[in-house]
Amino acid sequence: MKSENKIQTQQLKDQNDDFCRFDAVVIPPTNTFENIDCMEMLRKCPPKYFDLAIVDPPYGLGKRTVKGGTEKNTQTKFIDDLHRTNWDDSPPPQEYFEQLFRTSKNQIIFGGNYFGLPKHRCFIVWDKLTFIPTMSRVEQAWTSFDSPARLITINSNNPNRIHPTEKPIELYRQILKEFAAAGDLILDTHVGSGSSIIACIEGGFNYYGCEIDKEYYEAAKKRIGRAFRRYELFENEAVVKLTALPIKRNGQNL
Ligand SMILES: C[S@@+](CC[C@H](N)C(=O)[O-])C[C@H]1O[C@@H](n2cnc3c(N)ncnc32)[C@H](O)[C@@H]1O
Repeated sequence: MKSENKIQTQQLKDQNDDFCRFDAVVIPPTNTFENIDCMEMLRKCPPKYFDLAIVDPPYGLGKRTVKGGTEKNTQTKFIDDLHRTNWDDSPPPQEYFEQLFRTSKNQIIFGGNYFGLPKHRCFIVWDKLTFIPTMSRVEQAWTSFDSPARLITINSNNPNRIHPTEKPIELYRQILKEFAAAGDLILDTHVGSGSSIIACIEGGFNYYGCEIDKEYYEAAKKRIGRAFRRYELFENEAVVKLTALPIKRNGQNL
């Protein structure tokens, strides 16, 4: 058995001569969200294992990430959060991008303007409908697709958000609708609040996600659970219809 594994590892190495580090192969468990450093998983993952990576790594903006919001208390909480973990102080190392390209067939990378990625045709502009002069009105995502650039317009304001850079579930729904095919295995290496996972489960996509921070991980797990308890209530109704709506509980966005 051990020698079979060795042969498989050697074959995978032979197929991939352009990565910088390769550990013994471990297949990431499908439809799983783990509290780990994504590099641990990526280094062991077989080549081109994921159909599509939709990722939102730290941009390296530090505390600038949350300055300028409207809800004073929420912003204060999130600035404290960034002091607690400092996760946005630096962007991922070059090895992260090498492993991401090695392990996935296609990629959508938020903050693509910060990472020196190769020249590309299709990028996504997300118009957040934010009209506060100190906050960015739009965000850009780099994609590996050879198709026209897209504009997605979705209000980013969710007073109940659990993460300083939480993206709306609806943003992931639209991205999956446009760029993923039924049954695809989706990778999110930096899950944060869980929005990507909720959109994957709703849309019937397979997924794998990880989040390094224990507090964000636990909060995201709870949020995912809340979203799907609601779904059980509606199990006899058309899920397709539901997925077109924001998930709400007592009139509040989750
Ligand atoms: C920009 S946020 C992601 C926000 C997410 N898109 C959302 O909608 O909530 C980046 C997240 O990556 C996490 N992170 C940073 N380094 C990581 C690593 N090496 N592996 C896994 N997660 C990491 C941070 O804790 C943070 O929650």
